[in-house]
Amino acid sequence: MKIENVIKKFNSNIIYNCPKCYNDMYIENNSLKCSLNHTYDFSKKGYVHLINNYKSSKYDYKLFEARDFIFYKNFYNHIYLEIVKILSGHNFDILVDVGCGEGYYIRNLKEYFGYKYFFGIDNSKDAIEFAVKKDKKNPYMLANLSNLPFASNSVDVVLNILTPANYKEFTRIIKKGGLLIKIIPTKNYLREIREKFYEQEYSNDDTLILLEKNCQILSRNTITKTFTINEEEAKNFLEMTPLTFSKNIKLEDINSLQKITVELEIIVAKVMK
Ligand SMILES: C[S@@+](CC[C@H](N)C(=O)[O-])C[C@H]1O[C@@H](n2cnc3c(N)ncnc32)[C@H](O)[C@@H]1O
Ligand SMILES: [Zn+2]
Repeated sequence: MKIENVIKKFNSNIIYNCPKCYNDMYIENNSLKCSLNHTYDFSKKGYVHLINNYKSSKYDYKLFEARDFIFYKNFYNHIYLEIVKILSGHNFDILVDVGCGEGYYIRNLKEYFGYKYFFGIDNSKDAIEFAVKKDKKNPYMLANLSNLPFASNSVDVVLNILTPANYKEFTRIIKKGGLLIKIIPTKNYLREIREKFYEQEYSNDDTLILLEKNCQILSRNTITKTFTINEEEAKNFLEMTPLTFSKNIKLEDINSLQKITVELEIIVAKVMK
């Protein structure tokens, strides 16, 4: 991608924050640069790398390839449509998807809300490189959620899907009156896979307690669908989830996975300002 086209994607009204010293960063020539001269170059691949001492992530290319296949088959469309519904009722200009993975949600949101800014942030290089290959419109940043590269009170909406939260950072970057849309698994999410590899039922209680401590919850909504799946879909479902990290996926696991439940809880919240 031409470097000027990469830079154009980042040229919003937003002010970037240096992940090293927290001073403001501005676009200068082909880089983001802060007043202490910390410099992060835009890559022709289509993103900017903001992690000092990057270590590779267990969220690797193979996982994002499998996620991409599953998204392409519309298994998460009911979740996407719910996000569209929430955003349609809220005035916003800038949304940041924290832990964007291969970019399914913001790639589609940009098609729907063409004039809004959607930033994708992830700390896996494989995720970001996958995302920029598929999405030529949105700006993506390789960055850590504990150190978000945005100025205080600069973002209208943070989207945080199946990814850890950092409430200190979310509270800092979200404007007064802005929203956090946090999407978490329920005990039924990919239940058919969990039952194969784990004895205990999953509970999202701890996640909710932490969320309630840090934010004012405006709404909670559980969205669910159970699908009948074929062998290829089963294989990709098994490969797309951290539930199978360090597990040995056997042929019999693939063959016996004939149904899958995609049930998530969508929480809309306000950070406390
Ligand atoms: C289960 S995936 C979900 C991805 C995407 N939101 C989705 O729903 O398809 C979790 C994502 O969070 C990212 N992630 C985990 N820890 C992170 C951190 N500290 N900073 C930024 N991203 C992180 C991972 O690289 C991965 O892409
Ligand atoms: Zn700096």
